[in-house]
Amino acid sequence: MSRSHWHYPRREFAGQVYDLLAHGPVSALSLFGPRRTGKTQFLTHDLGPLAREEGHRVVYVSFWQTLDSPLGILLYEFDRALRTGNVMDRLRTTASDLAPKFKLKTPDGTGEIEVDLANLKGQAPESLLLLLDQYCERLANDDKPAFLLFDEFQELARSKASAPLISALRTSLDKRRDGLATLFTGSSPDGLRRMFTARAAPFFRFASPIELPALDERFVNHQIEAFRKSSKARLDRPTAMEVFDTFEQNPLFFQRWLTTVALHPDMDPRDAVQKVQDELSEEFGFGEVWLGLSATQRLVARMLADHVTQLYGQAGADFIKDLTGKSAPNSSSLQSALKLLSRHALVEKWEEEWRISDPLFENWIRHRPKTDF
Ligand SMILES: Nc1ncnc2c1ncn2[C@@H]1O[C@H](COP(=O)(O)OP(=O)(O)OP(=O)(O)O)[C@@H](O)[C@H]1O
Ligand SMILES: [Mg+2]
Repeated sequence: MSRSHWHYPRREFAGQVYDLLAHGPVSALSLFGPRRTGKTQFLTHDLGPLAREEGHRVVYVSFWQTLDSPLGILLYEFDRALRTGNVMDRLRTTASDLAPKFKLKTPDGTGEIEVDLANLKGQAPESLLLLLDQYCERLANDDKPAFLLFDEFQELARSKASAPLISALRTSLDKRRDGLATLFTGSSPDGLRRMFTARAAPFFRFASPIELPALDERFVNHQIEAFRKSSKARLDRPTAMEVFDTFEQNPLFFQRWLTTVALHPDMDPRDAVQKVQDELSEEFGFGEVWLGLSATQRLVARMLADHVTQLYGQAGADFIKDLTGKSAPNSSSLQSALKLLSRHALVEKWEEEWRISDPLFENWIRHRPKTDF
């Protein structure tokens, strides 16, 4: 049996996004959603296959860990999209899969070009940026726009050396707003937003933002059915719903719980929740991060985890008094603590509101005992 029955298809949302990009007034969207809630899977398992079924060319590129070679992976994926092939086979290349040197077909199909990744470190050569533009030209199709699915797009801005690539890409996409439809996403909403909203941002106002809808009970029903197919153990629906809420509708954590229940059929399902939480915290190293935080940073993190609205106002002061029995540090100490948490990407700004970036870490912080503060 394959694992494919575990995928819960987001058909309705895929249809909406597809219509917007294929026929709508916009040619680019940026998809936002909390950490590990299925943005990548939506691209690779829902939107990509749908666009492909509808006769569009689909290119999926993840910029994760491509600091040295974002142009390399772009060229490689554009080249592959122009050859025939199943999109699902193509969706799994990562930067580390690239050979140090690889050959591309020229966009006009008449020759071959060898790309040496070692030469791409630092600023990209002009000739290859030109090649990128030629690939865009070949991919562009006004009747059936090619779908460019760019994941972890914020990573592109991490290296200053990528600046020429970023502006070349923007120009290439700008020139072909009818023939190319682009969807950007990434695991850092803050980083992603910075690519589109700051006036000096490389893709300023290039894409309209959309939110990945939260999963609901239909997801739980689907997973219960998948569980029944894969395992002999029984699942109680109300318990599963309760656990799903405990994990704040997070598909990954819920699936971990299902795995734990399957492996330990005699364990109380609620104990399995605790086990999953402990394992995940261990895996993500929350304890270590926490140890590295100062007392004020912990207070700020806890206020954000508990969604205290006025960090520097009365509500914040009351919260701190209640938690520690002491009065709150002054606002400038709280502000610098927040700044540091942000610099370490532990917190991010969402719609003008600061939040802990990782929902799991948020939950973990909320359960720290008072003695930690
Ligand atoms: N539609 C779905 N059906 C079933 N499981 C899903 C679905 N979407 C996500 N998941 C589960 O959640 C996990 C995380 O999904 P994914 O990596 O797509 O999230 P993400 O939002 O891209 O995360 P990040 O913020 O880290 O980039 C998947 O590996 C899978 O186990
Ligand atoms: Mg992702």
